[in-house]
Amino acid sequence: MPEDCTKSLGMEERPEWAELATFVPNKRAPVYNWFYYKEGFSRDLVMKILDMFQHNAEMPVLDPFCGSGTTLLACRELGIDSIGFDVLPVSVFASDVKTRNYDAGEIRRIYAGFRKKFEKLDREYPPLMKRAFSKYALQDISLLMRDIMKIEDEKYRNFFLLALINASMKCSYARKDGGAIKTRIWKAPPLRIMFRHVLKRMAKDTEKIEFKACMTSAEAGDARRLGLEDESVGSVITSPPYLNNIDYTKVYAIEEFFIQSKGLPPLRSYIGSRMSEESFMDLPPAAVSYFLDMKKVIGEMHRVCMKGANVGIVIGNGFTGEVIDSDIILAKIAEDMGFSVEKIIVLNKRFALVERTKKSGVLRESLLLLRK
Ligand SMILES: C[S@@+](CC[C@H](N)C(=O)[O-])C[C@H]1O[C@@H](n2cnc3c(N)ncnc32)[C@H](O)[C@@H]1O
Repeated sequence: MPEDCTKSLGMEERPEWAELATFVPNKRAPVYNWFYYKEGFSRDLVMKILDMFQHNAEMPVLDPFCGSGTTLLACRELGIDSIGFDVLPVSVFASDVKTRNYDAGEIRRIYAGFRKKFEKLDREYPPLMKRAFSKYALQDISLLMRDIMKIEDEKYRNFFLLALINASMKCSYARKDGGAIKTRIWKAPPLRIMFRHVLKRMAKDTEKIEFKACMTSAEAGDARRLGLEDESVGSVITSPPYLNNIDYTKVYAIEEFFIQSKGLPPLRSYIGSRMSEESFMDLPPAAVSYFLDMKKVIGEMHRVCMKGANVGIVIGNGFTGEVIDSDIILAKIAEDMGFSVEKIIVLNKRFALVERTKKSGVLRESLLLLRK
């Protein structure tokens, strides 16, 4: 892409925001850290974006790829209505649990009713779970699950289930390595003790975070076909899967096991799985399906946004043997769909590596700002 083109699109660099485009700052933020989502962005980035947008408080903020619910949670802290969609059931689940109000006393009361005595339960687990946990951890999961499923109030049942997912992942042999799950046996702490610790911290978090009165919803839904009315949204703050990035259903398969519900088909971002026979914008074949999907997504955003709405999209460039400037391509698609491109803020830059060491171009991670 010629340099003058990036200038005409209004690119500016903010390397001091690089970490904000990651989940790292959320690890220290109460409630935001109840579900570790490596691909998420941070609360502080959403707050900065909301600061830049003069959001119309009468209208909701939309995140069509809500992931672990960062946008929804930040809006809830500010008392702004928000709606989130995702195709991954555990994302919708975690976003929903994180954006509700709880009574810490009720959490402690329910936990006091859990059986503390160990007993052996025979439950069959699939191979992935057997690889990810010791047999003692699986026993604890069975016992805790039995008590959790008995909780009558669905809101608290889900809260406890998220605590179990959180504690289990801390005691797991599995770790996420790029797009794959790798396992390594280590001396993990006993799961039931980790669960008690996590639950105590989560109960405290409910008292630390302050939500203002507003409407928040996290639902299963496909960003390419949103079940929302025309011009019903005041702003969009989101981050879609990046081209050639991970297959979320594979990477979150352990967490999904606890939820046991079926997801919707994801965006065709994962190269190798689906090659398109069509051509689009002179893109290499491996990138076509992704941008055809993103064209639908941007079309839907345009339809549901009110006039004057602001849109912030955090997007990383892709690599298919050559660097694909996703930020610029999406800006062009958005312009064709009727948005004006306000600015592209480059948050982060790294080298694309071939065979692990050979540098082959620069990959940007950018915040694309649009206006309808
Ligand atoms: C980069 S993550 C979003 C992370 C989020 N910003 C956060 O802070 O947690 C992208 C999300 O898009 C979801 N996704 C993939 N295809 C989708 C589709 N067609 N519709 C809605 N969500 C989709 C993935 O499941 C994933 O949760």
